[in-house]
Amino acid sequence: METHDIAVIPGDGIGLEVTPAALEVTRAAGRRHGFGLRLTEYDWSCARYLSTGAMMPFDGLDRLRGHDAIFLGAVGAPGVADHVSLWGLLIPIRRAFRQYVNLRPVRLFEGVESPVRAEIDLVVVRENTEGEYSEIGGRMNRGFPEELAVQEAVFTRAGVTRVLDYAFDLAARRQGHLTSATKSNGIVHTLPFWDELVNERAAVHPGVRWDQEHIDALCAKLVLEPGRFDVIVGSNLFGDILSDLAAAVAGSIGIAPSANLNPEREFPSMFEPVHGSAPDIAGQGVANPIGAIWSAAMMVEHLGHEAAATEMVAAIAHVLAKGHVRTRDLGGTAGTQEFTQAVLAHLS
Ligand code: NAD
Ligand code: IPM
Ligand code: MN
Repeated sequence: METHDIAVIPGDGIGLEVTPAALEVTRAAGRRHGFGLRLTEYDWSCARYLSTGAMMPFDGLDRLRGHDAIFLGAVGAPGVADHVSLWGLLIPIRRAFRQYVNLRPVRLFEGVESPVRAEIDLVVVRENTEGEYSEIGGRMNRGFPEELAVQEAVFTRAGVTRVLDYAFDLAARRQGHLTSATKSNGIVHTLPFWDELVNERAAVHPGVRWDQEHIDALCAKLVLEPGRFDVIVGSNLFGDILSDLAAAVAGSIGIAPSANLNPEREFPSMFEPVHGSAPDIAGQGVANPIGAIWSAAMMVEHLGHEAAATEMVAAIAHVLAKGHVRTRDLGGTAGTQEFTQAVLAHLS
């Protein structure tokens, strides 16, 4: 039997609750489709930071390098500054392993109430290694009236081109429509450059209809008419914001999955729900596991088992459509376990 070697980082908060749920569903899919998982769990987290001073060991990235994929729950906890926890673990993994595409599908499932009436089936393609997430900048004059902070955004021709090409190709395989998120009316260097590169790459992908929207107007349109979008490509920060927004429009951010892809497969890709560690509900057993289970399905697809992945998402859709087992964020009363068991029951 084919066995996949997965690094598992449950992390903090509800990451510890949704990760086992997702892996249980993945194992069940594997039994039906003839693949197994060899899991190596890493306790890298804010708890580790508080006891050792580091989110992961100094050779953490080397330990991950040999795995077929990485599955992550979420990191972040009260008591550790978010920029410390995220720049100590999540962001280095995305960068070191050139996971420059962050794929974030959004669907409105039958049985889920949305604030809008629309058929929603879109994918946010988020640039994942550069842009506004940069270490370049600084702070000066702390505590003085002259205090200031400067944060540079880095957009490279190579970095933008490769994620645009991914997005155009994806649109060509879907409904053939791409929307580029921009703000070249207000940001005068980086985003005009982004727009120019979109024009350049569009010429290479003539089969795809494309348009661009300023990020502010795009947010409004995503709420008012989410049904008109197919693939949306955006910079690191725009893609981050759009993916939570679109997920909430489709019911809850607890549903949203993501794949941090290294499309060339030189390094492992990483799969994780879009949501964070949700300290406000952590430890209660009420977190929605759909984002994690769907992320695991994306991992299974990436590992070559498309039918198994389709079945995992269909099992989620089936339980939602039946309507009586739902977590609190979707207006139900079920806990993480009860929802997961319902998915497992449908799968078997
Ligand atoms: P969050 O996604 O953790 O929570 C936002 C809101 O959504 C909360 O009210 C939460 O209860 C709810 N929510 C999130 N996931 C849910 C789920 N599966 N089921 C039900 N409700 C859910 O975002 P935040 O509050 O901005 O961040 C909390 C912590 O998580 C911070 O430390 C942040 O840095 C971190 N974070 C980590 C990741 C990651 O590791 N990938 C992603 C986002 C945020
Ligand atoms: C996400 C998260 C992270 C991001 C944070 C926690 C650094 O919000 O994966 O969407 O902004 O990339
Ligand atoms: Mn986010």
